[in-house]
Amino acid sequence: MDDLFTRLRAEEFGRLDATGQVYLDYTGSGLYPESLVRGHAEMLCGSVLGNPHSNNPTSAAASELVDRARARVHEYFDADPAEYEVVFTPNATGALRLVGESFPFTAGSRYVLTADNHNSCNGIREYAHARGAGVDYVPLDADLRIANVRPHLEGADRARANLFVFPAQSNFSGVKHPLEWIGEAQGLGYRVFVDAAAYLPHNRISLRQVQPDFLCLSFYKMFGFPTGVGVLLARTQALCDLQRPWFCGGTVRFVSATSEVCKPYHTSRGFEDGTLNFLDIAAVPAGLDWLERVGVDRIRTHAMALTQRLLAGMAELRHSDGSPLVRVYGPADVGCDCHGATLALNVLDADGVVVFFKEVEQRAREERISIRTGYFCNPGAAEYAFDHPAREVSTCTEEDEFDIHAYSACMQRRPVGAIRVSLGVASTEGDVDAFLRHLAGYRDQRFAPDALSALAHAD
Ligand SMILES: Cc1ncc(COP(=O)(O)O)c(C=O)c1O
Repeated sequence: MDDLFTRLRAEEFGRLDATGQVYLDYTGSGLYPESLVRGHAEMLCGSVLGNPHSNNPTSAAASELVDRARARVHEYFDADPAEYEVVFTPNATGALRLVGESFPFTAGSRYVLTADNHNSCNGIREYAHARGAGVDYVPLDADLRIANVRPHLEGADRARANLFVFPAQSNFSGVKHPLEWIGEAQGLGYRVFVDAAAYLPHNRISLRQVQPDFLCLSFYKMFGFPTGVGVLLARTQALCDLQRPWFCGGTVRFVSATSEVCKPYHTSRGFEDGTLNFLDIAAVPAGLDWLERVGVDRIRTHAMALTQRLLAGMAELRHSDGSPLVRVYGPADVGCDCHGATLALNVLDADGVVVFFKEVEQRAREERISIRTGYFCNPGAAEYAFDHPAREVSTCTEEDEFDIHAYSACMQRRPVGAIRVSLGVASTEGDVDAFLRHLAGYRDQRFAPDALSALAHAD
């Protein structure tokens, strides 16, 4: 392992070993380097910072920190400030919602999205439906990829506002989708929103090289700290075309209560509702500096080497009769630059039956292993991975209440959740091997279907 990462593990993430934790959920959240937290605490303790909406010395100091963070985001993303606005949001979801609720969908518009998408992108379909737009999902192939997106985008009415949304990297399978889709979809009459939340911890995007209309991220996924701060990077014209459903403090130049006059800002300010999370936004430049110092490419190389180790180790795990112990969803080859350090999998028992994900989660928890289980807020990728036909999904969800155990039974015991393992800057070979040892504990075990209902009662 690259010495740099051994050093970082000790200096920045020593708490993992001190507390005996195996952290395998970097797609859920990055871990904060200690130096970032200490540096930020020192900065706060040495400053007096007021609400940036005023015009006094403490307000000016806070505004300056926010301006600095905005400029640093432009710089990090190689974005021309004349071309892109940086809108601070609470998280990636906040950025998606801003666009979803303001996008000028009309009857005849199209909202096209890949089946592989986070629920925060799926949710935009509610705004599209409410405004009479058509909603179309692009299906996934057996590798959870899309070979040719074009036929699914063709035929949009260019006189209408059309939106295409896809993740640069899947938070389910780790598949990276081609950024070439941006230009392709724009050429076919779409505004394009790239959800880069899962991609950016290990990859860079230059907004001079690729030019989506919108891009979102959450900083805690990139460098662990702060939480509560995300960004919508929006092309100036695309932002101008949005129609905000309301105004509020911070977004308006002037409002009259007696005449109902309202003069909104048309820049990023018009989209930043209320008081910004200015104390945490002030921590963003140091986080981006940290990431650059370590080197995003180097982190990706490190995390992908560990992903290969994990995949190879899992392929070797067999029951005594030689049958596999693990099923991985998505492409078998992660060596290309079209996959990230995230794997979705299920454990198979000695009869080849998928072990219910809650059982795996519970056992992992007992060994202080942090994994993510379920659908990971990405139902489309999960449904393609588990082969859930739409009609059966509808039939099995007719009841008002949803119960995962009843759902599993109704779906003929097809998997209704998976295990997600994701690696990052603080991961080590030791973490990977600990998880492989954990999985080996399932060798030759059998899980009666009744184990499911026992777990149901344990919930
Ligand atoms: C691809 C992707 N998009 C969006 C989100 C939502 O991010 P947040 O919860 O920070 O808003 C996530 C979070 O896991 C994600 O992985």
